[in-house]
Order: sequence, then C-alpha cells, then structure tokens
Amino acid sequence: MAGSSSLSSLAKRLQGKVALITGGASGIGETTARLFARNGAKVVIADVQSELGSSVSEKIESDSGQPVSYVHCDVTKEADVENAVNTAVSKYGKLDIMFNNAGISGKYDPSIFSTEAEDFNKVIDINVYGGLLGAKHAARVMIPEKKGSILFTSSLAAVIYGGVPHAYTASKHAVVGITKNLAVELGKHGIRVNCISPAAVFTPLAGRALGLDEKTLEEFNLSIANLKGVKLDVNDMAEAALYLASEESKFVSGMNLVVDGGYSLRHSSLGIDKS
Ligand SMILES: NC(=O)c1ccc[n+]([C@@H]2O[C@H](COP(=O)([O-])OP(=O)(O)OC[C@H]3O[C@@H](n4cnc5c(N)ncnc54)[C@H](O)[C@@H]3O)[C@@H](O)[C@H]2O)c1
Repeated sequence: MAGSSSLSSLAKRLQGKVALITGGASGIGETTARLFARNGAKVVIADVQSELGSSVSEKIESDSGQPVSYVHCDVTKEADVENAVNTAVSKYGKLDIMFNNAGISGKYDPSIFSTEAEDFNKVIDINVYGGLLGAKHAARVMIPEKKGSILFTSSLAAVIYGGVPHAYTASKHAVVGITKNLAVELGKHGIRVNCISPAAVFTPLAGRALGLDEKTLEEFNLSIANLKGVKLDVNDMAEAALYLASEESKFVSGMNLVVDGGYSLRHSSLGIDKS
C-alpha cells in the first residue's frame, strides 16, 4: 500500500513541524496558520492584536485538532520576538518554520511629497527590521538543529511599480535582499530562506490601503489578470508558504516566489489581448 502511505504524507505536509507566524492574527498570516495546522504543524501565532490573535488561535486549534497558541509580539521589539521564539520552543520543543509575515502599508499616499519621516521609519521598522529580528531569533534556535525554513512576505511592489507608497515599496525590496543575504549566510547551517511576493489580495491591510471592498478588488483583479479563468484569493499565498515551509522545497533557497499569475511579466503595450 505504498500509494496510500504517500497519499497520507502528502495530505499532512508539515506533520510534526512547529511553525511561528508573525502577523498571524489576520489576513495572509491567519490563512497560513490554518493551512499549516491542517497539514499537521503545531503553530504559534504572534501578533499585536491580542484579542483577535487569541480567538483565531482557539478556532484554528478546535477546527484542526492541532495545538495552536497565541503570543503577543510586536515584531519591532527584540524582547517580544525573542519571547515568541522561546515560547514555540518551550511549548512544542523546537522551531522548524519561521514565517516573518507581519507588515503594514503605512500612510496610503504614493506621492513623494507625502513621504514623512515618522511614517517611513515605522514602515521600515515593522516590515524590514521586524522580519530581521524574526530571522535572527529563529536562526538562534535552528542553527543547533542544522535545519529550518525561514520565510518572509514581500510584495509584487518589489517586482513592478504598484502605485503604493515609497516606504512600502522600499521595505518590500529590502525583504527580497535580506532573503538572499540570509539564504547564503544560513545555508551552511542547513537553513533555507525564501520569500513570497503576493499580488493584491483582499485582507484588512489591502482593503484599508486601497480603499476597496472585497468584491471590487476581486473584480479589478479579474479584469487585469494575465492568467484567465482563475480567481486569486488569500489561500494562494498560504499554499505558496506551505510549499516553501515543507520538505517539498528542500533544495529551494533564496527564492522570491511571486504569486501573481504571470501578471508582472506582461506589458500592456504589446497588445497581447488583441490576439
Ligand atoms: N494583502 C495584500 O494584497 C498583500 C500584498 C502584498 C504583500 N502583502 C504583505 O502580506 C503581509 C500580511 O498582510 P495582510 O495583507 O495579511 O494584512 P493584515 O493586516 O490582514 O495582516 C497583517 C498582520 O500584521 C500584524 N502586525 C502589524 N504590525 C505588527 C507588529 N508591529 N508586530 C506584530 N504584528 C504586527 C497586524 O496586527 C495584522 O494581524 C504583510 O507583510 C503585507 O505587506 C499583502
């Protein structure tokens, strides 16, 4: 019955793994926490939204039957990040997957004349330094184990112009650079480092930033999509994270996995739609 055992291992692609997800109370992080737990992982959700994070954790735990915990963690505070990583290790014995996903858009005005120090620094602090702290403390506990998967959430704004604020674009480019740096630095310890670059997908962040409701963003995405007949949703980001977290990507490191259905490869002036 080799077929059925390989089917069951495919069904639980993170069996026995422990994952920590920052920004896990909402949006891409929450969806990924749910998918990771369904795939057999023990999950720690780290966020600043404690009420939401706790209720999301309880719900995922009761739906999946996997242990899921919440820990309050502001990713810009090193003591919080250190504590979140230590919580994963003390509760579940180790840390296999660190998903540095927490992020903010900052003040949503893409004009250079609206760029202000306070907002710019806050975006960089959360989106870049927060992710670096997550990687630092994950590496601390992964290096002795000689394995681990560290993930970041970048953005399509790191690949093409996205009409988004400069601070956000800068932060997401930085995340791609950090991914590559760390993939080389930590490769000798058996640790893989990758990032995901989502196209615009409806979450509280995207809704607030773009000022769109779910249906309007969905219709907009369908109208501009390169890949026709497929509807982008937040699960597509979680599936990308699952691939990079699992052993199926065991020789993939330093990659920016762009989840945009090929949208960033097109140029409207080529008139492809006319053919
Ligand atoms: N939704 C999109 O279209 C899209 C596109 C590209 C990239 N992203 C990126 O995806 C990631 C997740 O965003 P989302 O769309 O799911 O938004 P979201 O607002 O639903 O989730 C972001 C989470 O991060 C948390 N967070 C914010 N500041 C934090 C801090 N200092 N410490 C800990 N947690 C903090 C929030 O509380 C929230 O739960 C972000 O990095 C975002 O930049 C989103």
